[in-house]
Amino acid sequence: MTKKLSPKKPRLVVANWKMAPESAKDGAKIIAAFNRRKVSGVHVGWCPPAVMLSSLKAKFRAAEFGVQDVSAEQSGAFTGQVSAAQAKAAGAGFAVIGHSERRALGEDDALVSRKVRAAIAGGLYVLLCVGERERDSAGRYLRDLAGQIQASLAGVTPAEGKKIAVAYEPVWAIGAGKSAIGPTELLETSRFVRKVLRETLGAAVGDKVYVLYGGSVAPENAGELLSGGEVDGFLVGRASLDPYAFSAIAKACA
Ligand code: PGA
Repeated sequence: MTKKLSPKKPRLVVANWKMAPESAKDGAKIIAAFNRRKVSGVHVGWCPPAVMLSSLKAKFRAAEFGVQDVSAEQSGAFTGQVSAAQAKAAGAGFAVIGHSERRALGEDDALVSRKVRAAIAGGLYVLLCVGERERDSAGRYLRDLAGQIQASLAGVTPAEGKKIAVAYEPVWAIGAGKSAIGPTELLETSRFVRKVLRETLGAAVGDKVYVLYGGSVAPENAGELLSGGEVDGFLVGRASLDPYAFSAIAKACA
Protein backbone atom coordinates (compact mmCIF):
# COMPACT_ATOMS: atom_id res chain seq x y z
CA MET A 1 0.00 0.00 0.00
CA THR A 2 1.23 3.48 -0.78
CA LYS A 3 2.20 5.15 2.45
CA LYS A 4 0.22 8.24 3.30
CA LEU A 5 2.28 11.27 2.42
CA SER A 6 1.73 14.29 4.57
CA PRO A 7 0.68 17.28 2.45
CA LYS A 8 3.41 19.76 1.64
CA LYS A 9 3.36 22.77 3.89
CA PRO A 10 2.35 25.32 3.02
CA ARG A 11 -0.05 24.26 0.32
CA LEU A 12 -0.19 26.00 -3.04
CA VAL A 13 -3.19 27.52 -4.79
CA VAL A 14 -2.84 28.93 -8.30
CA ALA A 15 -5.26 31.16 -10.20
CA ASN A 16 -5.52 30.47 -13.92
CA TRP A 17 -7.40 33.43 -15.39
CA LYS A 18 -7.21 32.06 -18.94
CA MET A 19 -8.34 34.84 -21.36
CA ALA A 20 -10.00 37.00 -18.67
CA PRO A 21 -10.52 39.67 -17.40
CA GLU A 22 -10.57 42.33 -20.10
CA SER A 23 -8.02 44.70 -18.61
CA ALA A 24 -5.17 44.78 -16.12
CA LYS A 25 -7.26 47.28 -14.16
CA ASP A 26 -9.98 44.65 -13.71
CA GLY A 27 -7.32 42.12 -12.77
CA ALA A 28 -5.91 44.46 -10.14
CA LYS A 29 -9.38 44.77 -8.59
CA ILE A 30 -9.53 40.98 -8.17
CA ILE A 31 -6.13 40.80 -6.47
CA ALA A 32 -6.84 43.82 -4.26
CA ALA A 33 -10.16 42.30 -3.12
CA PHE A 34 -8.43 38.97 -2.49
CA ASN A 35 -5.72 40.71 -0.42
CA ARG A 36 -8.38 42.39 1.70
CA ARG A 37 -9.56 38.90 2.73
CA LYS A 38 -6.25 38.41 4.56
CA VAL A 39 -5.40 34.88 3.51
CA SER A 40 -2.25 33.47 5.14
CA GLY A 41 -0.46 30.15 5.54
CA VAL A 42 -0.74 29.19 1.88
CA HIS A 43 1.31 29.96 -1.23
CA VAL A 44 -0.75 31.84 -3.82
CA GLY A 45 0.15 32.17 -7.50
CA TRP A 46 -1.61 34.31 -10.11
CA CYS A 47 -1.57 33.55 -13.83
CA PRO A 48 -3.09 36.54 -15.63
CA PRO A 49 -2.91 36.92 -19.41
CA ALA A 50 0.77 37.66 -20.16
CA VAL A 51 0.05 41.21 -21.37
CA MET A 52 -1.06 42.15 -17.82
CA LEU A 53 1.95 40.74 -16.08
CA SER A 54 4.24 43.76 -15.79
CA SER A 55 1.60 46.18 -14.65
CA LEU A 56 0.18 43.76 -12.07
CA LYS A 57 3.65 42.90 -10.77
CA ALA A 58 4.42 46.63 -10.43
CA LYS A 59 1.26 47.06 -8.38
CA PHE A 60 1.53 43.89 -6.26
CA ARG A 61 5.25 43.38 -5.74
CA ALA A 62 4.86 40.75 -3.03
CA ALA A 63 2.53 38.58 -5.11
CA GLU A 64 3.77 35.55 -7.08
CA PHE A 65 2.90 35.62 -10.76
CA GLY A 66 3.14 33.07 -13.52
CA VAL A 67 2.41 32.79 -17.22
CA GLN A 68 -0.16 30.41 -18.71
CA ASP A 69 2.23 29.13 -21.36
CA VAL A 70 5.75 29.73 -22.59
CA SER A 71 7.61 29.23 -25.86
CA ALA A 72 9.74 26.13 -26.34
CA GLU A 73 12.26 28.43 -28.00
CA GLN A 74 14.65 30.68 -26.13
CA SER A 75 14.85 33.37 -28.81
CA GLY A 76 14.36 33.94 -32.52
CA ALA A 77 11.71 34.69 -35.13
CA PHE A 78 8.60 33.18 -33.51
CA THR A 79 5.72 35.59 -34.01
CA GLY A 80 3.33 35.75 -31.10
CA GLN A 81 5.42 33.71 -28.69
CA VAL A 82 6.79 34.72 -25.30
CA SER A 83 10.08 33.25 -24.09
CA ALA A 84 10.76 32.11 -20.55
CA ALA A 85 13.35 34.87 -20.10
CA GLN A 86 10.84 37.50 -21.25
CA ALA A 87 8.20 36.12 -18.89
CA LYS A 88 10.70 36.25 -16.07
CA ALA A 89 11.76 39.81 -16.89
CA ALA A 90 8.09 40.83 -16.87
CA GLY A 91 7.64 39.46 -13.34
CA ALA A 92 6.77 35.78 -13.69
CA GLY A 93 8.30 33.23 -11.35
CA PHE A 94 6.68 30.20 -12.92
CA ALA A 95 4.89 28.94 -16.02
CA VAL A 96 1.84 26.74 -16.42
CA ILE A 97 2.76 24.26 -19.16
CA GLY A 98 0.69 21.65 -20.98
CA HIS A 99 -2.74 22.89 -19.92
CA SER A 100 -5.40 20.75 -21.61
CA GLU A 101 -6.76 23.82 -23.41
CA ARG A 102 -3.35 24.21 -25.06
CA ARG A 103 -3.04 20.49 -25.71
CA ALA A 104 -6.45 20.74 -27.44
CA LEU A 105 -4.90 23.35 -29.76
CA GLY A 106 -2.35 20.77 -30.86
CA GLU A 107 0.43 20.68 -28.25
CA ASP A 108 1.71 17.16 -27.81
CA ASP A 109 3.86 15.70 -25.05
CA ALA A 110 7.05 16.25 -27.08
CA LEU A 111 6.35 19.99 -27.34
CA VAL A 112 5.30 20.12 -23.70
CA SER A 113 8.59 18.56 -22.63
CA ARG A 114 10.54 21.10 -24.71
CA LYS A 115 8.58 23.89 -23.04
CA VAL A 116 9.24 22.43 -19.60
CA ARG A 117 12.98 22.42 -20.25
CA ALA A 118 12.92 25.90 -21.84
CA ALA A 119 11.08 27.29 -18.82
CA ILE A 120 13.58 25.80 -16.38
CA ALA A 121 16.51 26.97 -18.51
CA GLY A 122 14.97 30.47 -18.47
CA GLY A 123 14.80 30.48 -14.68
CA LEU A 124 11.13 29.69 -14.15
CA TYR A 125 9.43 27.09 -12.01
CA VAL A 126 6.99 24.86 -13.89
CA LEU A 127 3.42 23.89 -13.15
CA LEU A 128 2.94 20.93 -15.50
CA CYS A 129 -0.67 20.03 -16.28
CA VAL A 130 -1.68 16.46 -17.02
CA GLY A 131 -5.00 14.65 -17.08
CA GLU A 132 -7.11 12.17 -18.97
CA ARG A 133 -9.87 13.17 -21.41
CA GLU A 134 -12.19 10.46 -20.14
CA ARG A 135 -12.21 7.51 -17.78
CA ASP A 136 -12.84 3.89 -18.64
CA SER A 137 -13.80 1.23 -16.12
CA ALA A 138 -10.80 -0.94 -17.05
CA GLY A 139 -8.39 1.77 -15.88
CA ARG A 140 -6.69 2.28 -19.25
CA TYR A 141 -6.71 6.01 -18.55
CA LEU A 142 -4.10 5.41 -15.84
CA ARG A 143 -1.70 3.98 -18.39
CA ASP A 144 -2.28 7.01 -20.62
CA LEU A 145 -1.80 9.35 -17.67
CA ALA A 146 1.51 7.68 -16.80
CA GLY A 147 2.62 8.00 -20.43
CA GLN A 148 1.69 11.67 -20.44
CA ILE A 149 3.69 12.39 -17.28
CA GLN A 150 6.75 10.44 -18.46
CA ALA A 151 6.74 11.99 -21.93
CA SER A 152 6.10 15.53 -20.65
CA LEU A 153 9.07 15.16 -18.31
CA ALA A 154 11.34 13.55 -20.91
CA GLY A 155 14.86 14.94 -20.61
CA VAL A 156 14.17 16.53 -17.20
CA THR A 157 16.87 15.57 -14.70
CA PRO A 158 16.06 14.83 -11.05
CA ALA A 159 17.79 18.13 -10.13
CA GLU A 160 15.50 19.99 -12.54
CA GLY A 161 12.59 18.01 -11.11
CA LYS A 162 12.91 20.15 -7.98
CA LYS A 163 11.59 23.06 -10.05
CA ILE A 164 8.41 21.24 -11.05
CA ALA A 165 4.92 21.01 -9.62
CA VAL A 166 2.21 18.93 -11.27
CA ALA A 167 -1.46 19.79 -11.64
CA TYR A 168 -3.63 16.75 -12.19
CA GLU A 169 -6.56 18.10 -14.20
CA PRO A 170 -8.96 15.54 -15.68
CA VAL A 171 -10.25 17.21 -18.85
CA TRP A 172 -13.80 16.00 -18.19
CA ALA A 173 -13.89 18.05 -14.95
CA ILE A 174 -12.71 21.40 -16.35
CA GLY A 175 -14.94 24.31 -17.25
CA ALA A 176 -18.54 25.51 -17.15
CA GLY A 177 -21.17 22.83 -16.75
CA LYS A 178 -18.66 20.26 -15.49
CA SER A 179 -18.27 18.79 -12.01
CA ALA A 180 -15.14 18.18 -9.99
CA ILE A 181 -13.79 14.72 -9.37
CA GLY A 182 -14.87 13.03 -6.11
CA PRO A 183 -12.40 12.72 -3.21
CA THR A 184 -12.14 8.92 -3.49
CA GLU A 185 -11.28 9.01 -7.19
CA LEU A 186 -8.91 11.90 -6.54
CA LEU A 187 -7.09 9.97 -3.81
CA GLU A 188 -6.61 7.00 -6.09
CA THR A 189 -5.33 9.17 -8.93
CA SER A 190 -3.13 11.50 -6.88
CA ARG A 191 -1.38 8.44 -5.39
CA PHE A 192 -0.93 7.07 -8.88
CA VAL A 193 0.53 10.40 -10.10
CA ARG A 194 2.88 10.38 -7.11
CA LYS A 195 4.01 6.85 -7.91
CA VAL A 196 4.77 7.80 -11.54
CA LEU A 197 6.66 10.91 -10.37
CA ARG A 198 8.77 8.78 -8.01
CA GLU A 199 9.56 6.40 -10.86
CA THR A 200 10.33 9.21 -13.30
CA LEU A 201 12.32 11.60 -11.10
CA GLY A 202 13.52 9.25 -8.38
CA ALA A 203 11.84 8.70 -5.02
CA ALA A 204 13.54 11.56 -3.18
CA VAL A 205 12.53 14.22 -5.72
CA GLY A 206 9.22 12.58 -6.66
CA ASP A 207 8.04 12.65 -3.04
CA LYS A 208 8.63 16.38 -2.78
CA VAL A 209 6.86 17.46 -5.97
CA TYR A 210 3.68 19.41 -5.23
CA VAL A 211 0.73 17.57 -6.75
CA LEU A 212 -2.25 19.88 -7.23
CA TYR A 213 -5.76 19.14 -8.44
CA GLY A 214 -7.65 21.27 -10.95
CA GLY A 215 -11.12 21.06 -12.50
CA SER A 216 -14.22 22.82 -11.11
CA VAL A 217 -12.65 23.56 -7.73
CA ALA A 218 -15.02 25.74 -5.69
CA PRO A 219 -15.38 26.81 -2.06
CA GLU A 220 -17.97 24.04 -1.65
CA ASN A 221 -15.67 21.17 -2.62
CA ALA A 222 -12.18 22.45 -1.70
CA GLY A 223 -12.20 21.06 1.86
CA GLU A 224 -13.25 17.52 0.98
CA LEU A 225 -10.91 17.35 -2.03
CA LEU A 226 -7.99 18.38 0.18
CA SER A 227 -8.72 16.10 3.10
CA GLY A 228 -9.85 13.13 1.02
CA GLY A 229 -7.74 13.53 -2.09
CA GLU A 230 -4.19 13.84 -0.69
CA VAL A 231 -3.27 16.82 -2.85
CA ASP A 232 -1.00 19.75 -2.02
CA GLY A 233 -3.34 22.44 -3.35
CA PHE A 234 -5.31 23.50 -6.40
CA LEU A 235 -5.14 25.03 -9.85
CA VAL A 236 -8.30 27.08 -10.12
CA GLY A 237 -9.94 28.47 -13.26
CA ARG A 238 -13.37 30.11 -13.07
CA ALA A 239 -13.49 30.51 -9.29
CA SER A 240 -10.16 32.39 -9.34
CA LEU A 241 -11.83 35.35 -11.08
CA ASP A 242 -14.07 35.78 -8.05
CA PRO A 243 -11.94 37.08 -5.15
CA TYR A 244 -14.43 35.85 -2.56
CA ALA A 245 -14.61 32.32 -3.95
CA PHE A 246 -10.85 32.19 -4.56
CA SER A 247 -10.02 33.42 -1.07
CA ALA A 248 -12.39 30.83 0.43
CA ILE A 249 -10.56 28.11 -1.54
CA ALA A 250 -7.17 29.50 -0.42
CA LYS A 251 -8.34 29.59 3.20
CA ALA A 252 -9.37 25.94 2.93
CA CYS A 253 -5.75 25.22 1.90
CA ALA A 254 -4.20 27.19 4.76
P1 PGA B 1 -12.01 25.43 -13.86
O1 PGA B 1 -10.64 25.39 -14.71
O2 PGA B 1 -11.62 25.63 -12.43
O3 PGA B 1 -12.76 26.58 -14.43
O4 PGA B 1 -12.70 24.11 -14.10
C1 PGA B 1 -9.50 24.76 -14.20
C2 PGA B 1 -8.36 24.88 -15.17
O5 PGA B 1 -8.61 24.89 -16.39
O6 PGA B 1 -7.20 24.98 -14.76
